[in-house]
Formats: sequence, structure tokens, C-alpha cells
Amino acid sequence: MRNTVGWQAEGPSTTLRRTPLKRRDLRPDDLAVRVEYCGVCHSDLHALSVTGEEGGQPLVPGHEFTGVVTETGSAVTGFAAGDPVAVGNIVDSCGECAMCRAGQENFCHAFPTLTYNGTDRHDGSTTLGGYSREYVVRDRFAYPLPADLDPAGAAPLLCAGITVWEPLRALGVGPGSRVAVAGLGGLGHLAVKIAVALGADTSVISRSPDKADDARRLGARSLIVSTDPERMAGARDRFDVVIDTISSPHDLGPYLRLVALDGTLSVLGHLGPVTVQATDLLVGRKKLSSAGSGGRPATAAMLDFCARHGITADIELLPSARVNEALDRLRRNDVRYRFVLDMSDLD
Ligand SMILES: NC(=O)c1ccc[n+]([C@@H]2O[C@H](COP(=O)([O-])OP(=O)(O)OC[C@H]3O[C@@H](n4cnc5c(N)ncnc54)[C@H](OP(=O)(O)O)[C@@H]3O)[C@@H](O)[C@H]2O)c1
Ligand SMILES: [Zn+2]
Ligand SMILES: [Zn+2]
Repeated sequence: MRNTVGWQAEGPSTTLRRTPLKRRDLRPDDLAVRVEYCGVCHSDLHALSVTGEEGGQPLVPGHEFTGVVTETGSAVTGFAAGDPVAVGNIVDSCGECAMCRAGQENFCHAFPTLTYNGTDRHDGSTTLGGYSREYVVRDRFAYPLPADLDPAGAAPLLCAGITVWEPLRALGVGPGSRVAVAGLGGLGHLAVKIAVALGADTSVISRSPDKADDARRLGARSLIVSTDPERMAGARDRFDVVIDTISSPHDLGPYLRLVALDGTLSVLGHLGPVTVQATDLLVGRKKLSSAGSGGRPATAAMLDFCARHGITADIELLPSARVNEALDRLRRNDVRYRFVLDMSDLD
């Protein structure tokens, strides 16, 4: 086993502590990656809130990171030591099912191996995430990091970015599309940047009026305050696609009412069970959809698109020792718009 160090939680709502960690020895198709920058995703908070329940394992979060290859397995041909790479929230899949064959490894019928709290398909161990100095990853699930992208700002593209890219592309967003993004956080601000770059007329729906200047700076036409019933009523049926990135359970009705005839509400937050009034779908033949992460081809295409359009996340970069402060502030919606941890203090 290889020795490294990272930030680990032992139980629910405990603070993360600097902990020695083990990584597997390289298999023939593995890369060892020195993690340089890791984004802090709201899913990390969700996962931490249930850590240790029902005999769960200690948790090392982190599933959007960039770094440098330090060593390659004997069968690796596509990467060499020194290559800058990016890794997202999926690190393996069966490779054989219809979804994997279609390049949708994120929907693998045998379930993709998640970057943390997943089960390794070969040795059955629980995966430990990227809040760590080293990660060992199968080569197919590491992506060359385009040279034009700042490695710290690019880290959030690997979860937040791909998670909004796939539905925007699948729903055909392009010039002439009218898009609204609900919730201006990590996912939301990248959804705005990408939708604008795809040519869509883009708006933001937010409960935070003080984000209006940022929304315009990101390229949005306007910010509609979700708690203002008049503004919401005025935007009825206005958007072909509404991307909902709100992180906690909420009534979908007001957001479905913003969707245009035959349009789609795509709900990306981990909300658990949701209730929908059928008439909110019936009136206007509206569609309710969701998405999660992305397959390998889409992830590579998203990175290429972001490099060509100069898109990275708006980040607040913190030494990894301040991880607990980052999580606390994310919980309080006090981030514009993604925390990224600099792992160099783990040496
Ligand atoms: N499907 C997937 O594969 C996938 C991948 C990554 C993340 N996620 C999930 O997507 C969600 C968003 O993640 P994130 O990292 O973007 O989170 P985030 O940075 O915390 O942003 C969430 C935004 O939602 C809005 N919001 C939060 N609480 C709200 C409430 N009670 N009522 C109304 N609005 C609220 C806030 O925006 P305003 O201040 O603008 O209202 C906030 O900035 C989380 O549930 C996360 O777990 C899913
Ligand atoms: Zn995530
Ligand atoms: Zn599969």
C-alpha cells in the first residue's frame, strides 16, 4: 500500500481531521495523482451529514480535483509522469453494459464506482476522496487537463461543471434557447457561464437579491427573486429549460410554472422524494427531468469547451487546513461561488 494523508471525518457532524491514509498499489491501468486542488461540493456536506450512521465508514470527501500524474501502471499508455490531469466523481464502471457502451458510464447498470464512499470493483474497499495529497485512479477516469485552464479554477468543472453540462447539452440548449438557472451556487454559476457560452438567453432565479450584480457579470440577462411572487408570476412560461440546482427540498410548482410549452425542468439537487402536482406538468405539456455527473465522452467535451471559452469556476482558494471553515461557510450559503482547497499544505 502507498501512504498519503488527507482530511477525514469519523462520524456525523464531526470536524474533519488530518489523518494518514493508505492508497492501493498501482494496478496495470492505474495512475497515481498528486492532488493539487480539490473543490468543495454541496454533495460533500450531504455525505458528511450521514457519515458513521448505520455502521458507515469514516469519510474522506472530495470528488472534483486537478493534479499531476506522479506514476503510471505497467499497461498505461495515455499518460506519463508530469501530466496535468483532472478527476471527477466517478472513478470506474463495468465497461460492458449498454450505458457504458453508450459512453454514459455515469449510469452504469452495475453502478459506477464513486470517487469517495464508493466500493472498489476489484478489492471491495471503500474509496477515499480527493481531500487528500494523493489519489490512485484507473486511467480511463482521469482526463488530460487542458493547458489553457487554471488548475485551481478548473477543479470544480469535474463535478459541478459536468453535472450542468450534460443536461444543457441533452436538452439541446444553444442560440435561441431561453434558460433559467435556479440557485446561484457552485453548480448554478457554472450553469450560467456554460449556457451563456452555448448562446442561450440566460436568467437566474435566486432567493438572494444581492447576487444580482454577479448574475449579470456571469452573463445572465437578469436575476428573478424567487421569494417575490409578482416577479415569479411575470416570468410564467418564459423558459425552454430551467436548471434547478437548489440544494434542499423545495416545492417544484413555482419552478415548473416558469417552464414554457413543451419545455423541461431539470432538477439536479439531491432532494430525496419530491411531490409534483400533475396539473403543473399537464398545463403546457411540461417535462420533469434530472441528471447526474457525466460520461467520459461528455466530460472530455466539456473540458474542451471550457478551455475554448475560457470557463473556470469563480473560486475562493483556501489552504486545505481550513477545510472545516469552508464546509461551515458553504452550509451557510456564504460562498461566491466555489471553495477550492489547496492541498500543498499536506506535504
Ligand atoms: N446530480 C448530481 O450529480 C449532482 C452533482 C453535484 C451536486 N449535486 C447537488 O446539487 C445541489 C447543489 O450543489 P452545489 O454544490 O451547487 O450547492 P451550493 O453551492 O450550496 O448552491 C446551492 C444554491 O441553492 C440555493 N439554495 C440553497 N438552499 C436553499 C433553500 N433552502 N431554498 C432555496 N434555495 C436554496 C442557493 O442559491 P441562491 O442563494 O441563489 O438562492 C445556493 O447557492 C446539492 O444538492 C448537491 O448535492 C448534484
Ligand atoms: Zn459534487
Ligand atoms: Zn456499465
